[in-house]
Amino acid sequence: MAAGATAGTWVLVLSLWGAVVGGQNITARIGEPLVLNCKGAPKKPPQQLEWKLNTGRTEAWKILSPQGSPWDSVARVLPNGSLLLPAIGIQDEGTFRCRATNRHGKETKSNYRVRVYQIPGKPEILDPASELMAGVPNKVGTCVSEGSYPEGTLSWHLDGKPLIPDGKGVSVKEQIRRNPETGLFTLQSELMVTPAQGGNAHPTFSCSFSPGIPRRRALNTAPIQPIVWEPVPLEEVRLVVEPEGGAVVRGGTVTLTCEAPAQPPPQIHWVKDGMPLPLPPSPILLLPEVGPQDQGTYSCVATHPSHGSQESPAVSISITGKTISQIPETLAILPHPQCTRTQVSAPPKSCQENSPASLL
Ligand SMILES: *[C@@H]1O[C@H](CO)[C@@H](O)[C@H](O)[C@H]1NC(C)=O
Ligand SMILES: *[C@@H]1O[C@H](CO)[C@@H](O)[C@H](O)[C@H]1NC(C)=O
Repeated sequence: MAAGATAGTWVLVLSLWGAVVGGQNITARIGEPLVLNCKGAPKKPPQQLEWKLNTGRTEAWKILSPQGSPWDSVARVLPNGSLLLPAIGIQDEGTFRCRATNRHGKETKSNYRVRVYQIPGKPEILDPASELMAGVPNKVGTCVSEGSYPEGTLSWHLDGKPLIPDGKGVSVKEQIRRNPETGLFTLQSELMVTPAQGGNAHPTFSCSFSPGIPRRRALNTAPIQPIVWEPVPLEEVRLVVEPEGGAVVRGGTVTLTCEAPAQPPPQIHWVKDGMPLPLPPSPILLLPEVGPQDQGTYSCVATHPSHGSQESPAVSISITGKTISQIPETLAILPHPQCTRTQVSAPPKSCQENSPASLL
């Protein structure tokens, strides 16, 4: 036979060998063993076969044969001609080909495209909102999925239907991080929604992770069910004084209650004679053991994050002539909390003067 003809056959075979298209797609879970069969190979030696690998671990093609030694702990050819990868990793993704010749000289080729995957833990919603306000953007929560490969996607559902970010009523902020050691992905998706006014007051939100490989089930978070509040505008701020009329005996107690119905509830601050009182916000102002320094005009200011602030009409507190000396002193004293704490050593001057105290 002419040398040229032989060479020609080889060129043809090589080009076919190099041009194998299609083939079989294999997905394998990271860390598990993978066996790829060499089609058409005799089940026992002697065999004429050769594996060729092009993966993240190889530079161009790596060739393995039954006679050759195994490739470290990465891959080896089994006695029946199959290729074993004892623990597949991300770097083993790539193309695997086998060419075998049977006892009658017939050649068979196998071609595999290997992808690996890892199933993440069950996704979770961090910082779930318990309440939402209709008509304004609210953060519902942050969905987190840890340890996936390939990254896959997170999506949100409202009452069982997909929630599509539209940049207006629904928006999502996504983040993908990759663990430099394991190569696995952590996905985060923060959901903001603006519930419609007059809509569902008890919506159910959930989040699901969809794997980036076909035929794998999505993983769902536990649902969350925040309550949706309808905004109630701040219309009128009323100040109720007890005793009625604001006239109190010296040593008596005055309770001022600020009524500012609105949703969300506004913050209430107090004003005396036009000056804000340095007290934490509270809808009730209690003046125990009233003395001359407590006389004056009082009003409350309700501040709402979206409706601005509004002040109540003022009421004036005055001391009438009589005292309440008939009440035992121990019962009449309702000291400022700060005074109780410091009483043992040296009570502040203001405590002796019956400074106003607040409740709640
Ligand atoms: C294998 O995967 C590739 C790319 O993902 C695709 O184009 C091809 O159709 C798949 N082949 C089979 C046999 O599923
Ligand atoms: C070859 O042997 C391996 C391990 O015993 C087995 O998993 C595989 O199916 C065998 N291949 C064939 C083609 O019989």
